[in-house]
Amino acid sequence: MNLKDFVADVPDFPQPGITFRDISPLMADGTAYGEATQQIVNYAKDKEVDMIVGPEARGFIVGCPVAFELGIGFAPCRKKGKLPRETIEVSYGLEYGSDALQLHKDSIKPGQKVLVCDDLLATGGTIAATIELVEKLGGEVVGTAFFIELKDLKGRDKIKGYDIFTLMEY
Ligand code: PRP
Ligand code: ADE
Repeated sequence: MNLKDFVADVPDFPQPGITFRDISPLMADGTAYGEATQQIVNYAKDKEVDMIVGPEARGFIVGCPVAFELGIGFAPCRKKGKLPRETIEVSYGLEYGSDALQLHKDSIKPGQKVLVCDDLLATGGTIAATIELVEKLGGEVVGTAFFIELKDLKGRDKIKGYDIFTLMEY
């Protein structure tokens, strides 16, 4: 199965010059979504992961089924002002804009091994901010996993030293 057949390429969204890589056709196909999830589960299996963390919103789509399959928990990393209890926060830049991300203070226990999941690695701003939050809470990031990597944006350079697993490259 070629997972790229399930990614829709949308020119000039959300702004001119950006080709948006839309994973909703992949999510809409049970076999493709299952295959993509299973590949990340297999990557995670020998890492003794305790928790999955994923940034809002598409990180939930990737991370939650992986956590379920591994039989472990998922902690949501959300944009500022969405989490109701005590949080920690970092600001970050995006391919189109900037924002701040938060994690609940009690979502990761010191020493826990964490796999960070998201749909797409672009500039790396989101994943770097998510890693920073996990580490502020004392978590150990043992890997990062994405459906898609946009090579030209060099997101890898922002998370040098971390293990990176991607299913599709553009
Ligand atoms: C997208 C995508 C990644 C991030 C990648 O999220 O889902 O999280 O951008 O870009 P980066 O590597 O340059 O940080 P977005 O902030 O658009 O939010 P969404 O998931 O809520 O759509
Ligand atoms: N997030 C950042 N850049 C993106 C892109 N080109 N397509 C989909 N999501 C993105």
